[in-house]
Amino acid sequence: MSDPRIAVVGATGAVGREFLALFDRRPLPFAGLRLLASGRSSGRELACRSSSWPVEELGERSFEGVDLAFFSAGASISRRYAPLAEKAGARVIDNSSAFRLDPEIPLVVPEVNPQAIGAAPIVANPNCSTILLVVALEPLRRAFGLARVVVATYQAASGAGAAAMAELEEQSAAVLRGEEPRPKVFAEPCAFNVFSHNTAVDPATGRNVEEQKMIDETRKIWADPELRITATCIRVPVMRAHAEAVNVALAEPATEEEVRQALAAAPGLEIVDDRAANRFPTPLAASRRDAVLVGRIRPDESQPSYPASGGRRHLGFELFLAGDQLLKGAALNAVQIADRMLERDGR
Ligand code: A2P
Repeated sequence: MSDPRIAVVGATGAVGREFLALFDRRPLPFAGLRLLASGRSSGRELACRSSSWPVEELGERSFEGVDLAFFSAGASISRRYAPLAEKAGARVIDNSSAFRLDPEIPLVVPEVNPQAIGAAPIVANPNCSTILLVVALEPLRRAFGLARVVVATYQAASGAGAAAMAELEEQSAAVLRGEEPRPKVFAEPCAFNVFSHNTAVDPATGRNVEEQKMIDETRKIWADPELRITATCIRVPVMRAHAEAVNVALAEPATEEEVRQALAAAPGLEIVDDRAANRFPTPLAASRRDAVLVGRIRPDESQPSYPASGGRRHLGFELFLAGDQLLKGAALNAVQIADRMLERDGR
């Protein structure tokens, strides 16, 4: 079969640019590349694989001749245009929240549920914080089962797009000049500050949209609608990688060594856990890295533990992770889904 013709919707955005950078350094073959954004960007050119590609305004006929379309321009654009791309014969990988909880549409992290991709015309890429969480916990779920997950996030500006990244940079400079920060994208000052995630809070549950996404999407990816999971999502003044503090209750108790072995053998993870040097995952170290960094691996002594021959077995464990929100949290996961699709389609 011939190489696919690819479209990137939202090519000028924070995630869109990462797609182009990934095409530069990964072997994904393509016979054509169409870059789509709003009318504001038409006339711009972006570089990829040593060529310059024009940015076109997204329109109803943008998908003629396209085989594979990556969407990262927000949920309303995906809702309107992904069905048109599908109709034009393209397979769609959608980075927005538009279809993630649609029971007909697979929600995929290739390290976890690649089998869900099948021949689906549209595949949804999960929320960034969810992807990082399930990549880190999948080996523990497989080896010991998970009875409960408690996660607190430390989320970068990149999750709110290119304008939010620029806001963090500008506000930081302004504050250092002694000026008042002037919030635009975020309601709170983002430089030198930490605040509850900017998505709306449900007045009935007290959970914000990001927390609800983590709960719902994790349950869907693991096909475990009863999973006990709770999240607290927080923004921190970091440019592009999220961190998460995770506390789990395993279904079967395990020794710390068994947990470390399971994590060390898992794809997509790198253990950074140097107690002597106090060196653990950081968003800066995770930035521009494909792997999710995992450390602070330790038993949670507040949960039951049992004497055993290979060392004490614990039900509770804690870990801390950091992963690039724009890469594994978004563009890289989507490209890994594309790799599987092309493999399956024999391209
Ligand atoms: P543009 O740069 O022309 O506004 P981010 O997540 O970094 O904010 O990026 C959002 C992406 O979605 C950008 O590429 C942006 O293009 C694109 N986008 C926003 N609104 C539209 C629209 N109405 N039609 C097509 N693309 C859009």
